[in-house]
Amino acid sequence: MALLEVHNLTKDFDGLRANDDISFTLDQGELVGLIGPNGAGKTTLFNCISGLHPVTSGRIIFDGQEITQLKPYEVARRGLARTFQVYVASGDLTVEENVMVGCFMRTRSRAQAKARAREILTDLRLSDLADYLMSELPVSAQKRVTMATALGSDPKLLLLDEVAAGLNPSEIDEIMTSIKHVHDDLGVTVMLIEHVMELVMKVSHRVVVLDYGKKIAEGEPAKVAKDPLVIKAYLGERYVREHAEELK
Ligand SMILES: Nc1ncnc2c1ncn2[C@@H]1O[C@H](COP(=O)(O)OP(=O)(O)OP(=O)(O)O)[C@@H](O)[C@H]1O
Ligand SMILES: [Mg+2]
Repeated sequence: MALLEVHNLTKDFDGLRANDDISFTLDQGELVGLIGPNGAGKTTLFNCISGLHPVTSGRIIFDGQEITQLKPYEVARRGLARTFQVYVASGDLTVEENVMVGCFMRTRSRAQAKARAREILTDLRLSDLADYLMSELPVSAQKRVTMATALGSDPKLLLLDEVAAGLNPSEIDEIMTSIKHVHDDLGVTVMLIEHVMELVMKVSHRVVVLDYGKKIAEGEPAKVAKDPLVIKAYLGERYVREHAEELK
C-alpha cells in the first residue's frame, strides 16, 4: 500500500522552479534514496512534503489522507518525521532533552517522554551520550541524535536529509546500521537524501533521482546507476567504473 503519494509537485521561489512536476510514491516498508546534484531540489521536496513550504501546485497524500496544505506540526502529528540538513544544536539542551522534544509529540507527561527518550537512545546505542549537551557533541553524534529525536514522535515515515554528510567511513557504517535498524526492526518507512553513494546505493530498495528540479530517473540502485542520464547529471563515469562489480 502506498504510504506517501506525491502528485505533480511544483515549487517556485521567485522565478526559480526548485521542484518541477515531481510525482512518486513510497510504499509502506520501503527504504528509498533521493539523490541528485547540489541544488537539484531534494531538500525543497522534503520541505514541501513536511509542510514547511507551501507548494506552488500538486498534491501530497500521506497514509490515505491529503496533507498538502497542512502545517509542519500537523504533518508530524500524523506520523511523518524528518531531520534537517543543517542542524543548529540548541546549546543548553542535553541529548536526552533533545530526544524528549520529539517524544512530546505523543505525550504530555514529562516522565513518559523521558522514559521513551531513554528507550530510543538505548535502541540507537546512544545512551552513553544522554547527559551531554548537544553543543558538546561532534557533528556525527549530533546527526544520530537528530534521528533519535525524529523517532520520538513514533513516525510511520522518516525523511532523512544527509545524515551521513561529513562523516568518516566508520561513522558512516554506524549511521548505516542505525538507519537499517530503524527500518528493518522498528518498521519505519524511510526516505533518505544522501550524497554518500556507498550508503545510499547499498541500503536503498529504490532511488529517485532529481536534476534541476525534475525527476530524471527512478528504480533499483543498480539499474539507476547505469542510466546514462543519471551518469551525466550526477554520478559521473568514474563512479560507474569504480563500482562496476557491485552494480552487476
Ligand atoms: N527558501 C528558499 N528561497 C529561495 N530559493 C531557495 C530556497 N530553498 C532552496 N532554494 C533554491 O532551490 C534550489 C534547490 O535547492 P535545494 O536546497 O532543494 O537543493 P538540494 O538538492 O537539497 O541541494 P544540496 O544537495 O546542495 O543540499 C536551489 O537553487 C536553491 O538555491
Ligand atoms: Mg539539500
